[in-house]
Amino acid sequence: MKAPFHWFGAKRTVVDDVWQRFGAPRQYIEPFCGSAAILLGAREPASLEVIGDLSGFVANFWRCVKMQPAKTAEWADYPVSHIDLGARHRWLMEQRDRLWVELHDPNWPGDPQVAGWWLWGQCAWIGSGWCDWFAGKIPHVTDAGRGIQASGQIPHVGNAGMGSLLTTGGKAAWVALHKLATRLDRVRVIHGEWDRCLNHHYGKEQTAVFLDPPYVGFEALYGDKRPVALDVCEWAREHAHLRVALCGHIGDYDLPGWEQFLWSRDSNTYGSDKTKDAECIWFSPACLPPTRQGVLDL
Ligand SMILES: C[S@@+](CC[C@H](N)C(=O)[O-])C[C@H]1O[C@@H](n2cnc3c(N)ncnc32)[C@H](O)[C@@H]1O
Repeated sequence: MKAPFHWFGAKRTVVDDVWQRFGAPRQYIEPFCGSAAILLGAREPASLEVIGDLSGFVANFWRCVKMQPAKTAEWADYPVSHIDLGARHRWLMEQRDRLWVELHDPNWPGDPQVAGWWLWGQCAWIGSGWCDWFAGKIPHVTDAGRGIQASGQIPHVGNAGMGSLLTTGGKAAWVALHKLATRLDRVRVIHGEWDRCLNHHYGKEQTAVFLDPPYVGFEALYGDKRPVALDVCEWAREHAHLRVALCGHIGDYDLPGWEQFLWSRDSNTYGSDKTKDAECIWFSPACLPPTRQGVLDL
């Protein structure tokens, strides 16, 4: 199962590598969920699952998929149109303050128009810059290369990327979102800072936490505040007794005793030159060694 949109920094390529090391925890937490690639790639749902994201568009989308999939699919069902892309982008950006307030109520079911239009644009928009929650607000958490270019944007008109959801029509979106709704049935969707997801967890290897913050180098480039990834690393260090994965670039963290798993986004080089784009995941000592995958949990 996967998200119906592409996401900057998504971790779909490493889903199996991560779950080999996490095994079958009782609780799973993904505080920087984006497209929730790791949650959706789990072999079996954990009995307690929590995902969160500081982007209100992301949190609202997952909340709506869970609670209002039919309405969300209805709003997402619209032909690709250049003029509407710009207009909807502006309208969506104006909803941020309202969403910020509403999302703090954990029982608010989300806004399906925002979710549907956001998904539609996420699929139609080429490159980065669609509805950047952080633009002009919280500069230090912006992702690299993101900016607002609504007026000059040319939409996807073919089948490339998630344009496929749009070109196959509303029925496909309806089916995809209902499948996701079933999967998310018992998943808690949190909006806000990453540590809001972490205020309750079981001890030891019963809990797995996948930490994929904006990378240290990106934040250093785009802001003058302390990168959130450094606080995340501190939390990870203090919780090494849990099954924790922390994503970054080679050299970002010094975590003695943790496995460093190198990987590449380019599937052609995956397995050969794993250092090509310097991607690394640190796995805490409580994680399963990859050669003993599943053994401790059978
Ligand atoms: C690298 S992406 C995560 C990608 C995700 N693992 C996936 O597979 O799609 C980082 C995510 O963290 C979110 N984010 C940025 N700063 C955050 C913060 N302080 N707390 C929670 N989420 C944050 C961004 O909105 C973005 O979705």
